[in-house]
Amino acid sequence: MTHMHVAGAIHADAVSPAPIWLTRPDDVNELSPNLWSTGTRREPDGMMSIAGIRLDDIASQVGTPVYVIDKDDFVARARTWRDTFAPWEVYYAGKSFLTLEVVRWLEAEGLGLDVASGGELTVALLGGMDPARIGFHGNNKSTEELRLGLQAGVGCIIIDSADEITRLERLCRELGTTAKVLIRVTTGVEAHTHEYIATAHEDQKFGFSILGGQALVGMVRCFHSQHIELRGIHSHIGSQIFDTSAFEVAALRTLRLIAQFKEATGVELPHLGLGGGFGIAYTKADDPAPVAALAQGLKEIVAHECRAFGLSMPEVSIEPGRAICGPAGTAIYTVGTVKPVEIGGGQSRRYVAVDGGMSDNIRPALYAAEYSATLGNRRSAADPVLSRVVGKHCEGGDILVRDEFLPDDVQPGDLIAVPAAGAYSRAMASNYNMVTRPPVVAASHGRLQTLLRRETMDDLLRLDLGEREGIRE
Ligand code: LLP
Repeated sequence: MTHMHVAGAIHADAVSPAPIWLTRPDDVNELSPNLWSTGTRREPDGMMSIAGIRLDDIASQVGTPVYVIDKDDFVARARTWRDTFAPWEVYYAGKSFLTLEVVRWLEAEGLGLDVASGGELTVALLGGMDPARIGFHGNNKSTEELRLGLQAGVGCIIIDSADEITRLERLCRELGTTAKVLIRVTTGVEAHTHEYIATAHEDQKFGFSILGGQALVGMVRCFHSQHIELRGIHSHIGSQIFDTSAFEVAALRTLRLIAQFKEATGVELPHLGLGGGFGIAYTKADDPAPVAALAQGLKEIVAHECRAFGLSMPEVSIEPGRAICGPAGTAIYTVGTVKPVEIGGGQSRRYVAVDGGMSDNIRPALYAAEYSATLGNRRSAADPVLSRVVGKHCEGGDILVRDEFLPDDVQPGDLIAVPAAGAYSRAMASNYNMVTRPPVVAASHGRLQTLLRRETMDDLLRLDLGEREGIRE
């Protein structure tokens, strides 16, 4: 979090204009294949295209800013995760990006769906997901949310607290049903990119602590409940994880707990959920492991720990979100203003302001997340210049791409494309500054399909019940 700064991020790093990981490209027009969706290319005339549709056509059909999901890329990734991890179950994490059509794609490919609220559950059900393949998460599910899940017959509820056990038992009694559950446990492992910490310290809101003993107590309580069928335990250790070492510690601690539970009750629980958090490349500096290597690594880890604890291999589930929808998504913006700014030491930085911003992608402002960008509507022969792509919001921290080399001749009207933008962008979008949220379109075989239309000012005004005095054009 070295970029964080209370007044916004703009003053924090003026001494060193380019981060060490960012090198000046030999060819500023090149599209690095590990960053862009498989259907993205630069056409002979320099215009970029996604799944056979030129960016200028996308912009003229739906306007900018717009998020484009390369549908075939999304579906191929879903298949790869499903097939490579089989027989483990793959649940797509809906929080990363979910629409009715996306649910249909996942359903057709036989993936499961992890939902984290009644809203996500509603989209999953309306989209036609088999309820038996839905896992229902959330650290504070309301009674109404739990009721919706039980009435729909979701395959699994991931219980997060003792209060939830009480609430769920009451509801099951009322509805005359039994809930299949996993207990969410905290393993003391917290992983982020290449770093993780595995300590006894578990100061966060999710789950039941293994170390504090609450996990075993919760499991035994569910086990003895007439209304709850305890299927196993679940752990999620973090986001943007690039290797398997953190999962190794999590697997050891969760399987040891399953062994302890077996010792206490004589019953070996059949299911282990290992959560999501698999990392993707946002910039050329990111180098995630291939899915096959991850699958092999995780399977070996679980098999090894099972042997060590004398357990048979459980059913295992994982929940990738970002790794499926992230690389499939590209954000397209139009440049509005270009401004060189002196930043001291004879250095200057080019600020390229576009027609979106932190309302459609809060990740750079919220997590200091790094992204890449390229000039999308033409090839340029100009020199690469260190640039910062910023939005149109009334805030200094409104940054979309903190550091990138863009050609010196970028000008108003140009299109800027941001790769790996499919996850946690539109899903976390807001209406800050009364800005309407952008559409999401799917591109496939030269055709566009609108998944989410652009929000209009009327959509926003519909919620405002104040008197209207003025006249609106
Ligand atoms: N399963 C559980 C229980 C989770 O809490 C999450 C993410 C996932 C799966 C999916 O993680 P993924 O594979 O997509 O990384 N808004 C943040 C990420 C928060 C993730 C919360 N949980 C971001 O934009 O980076």
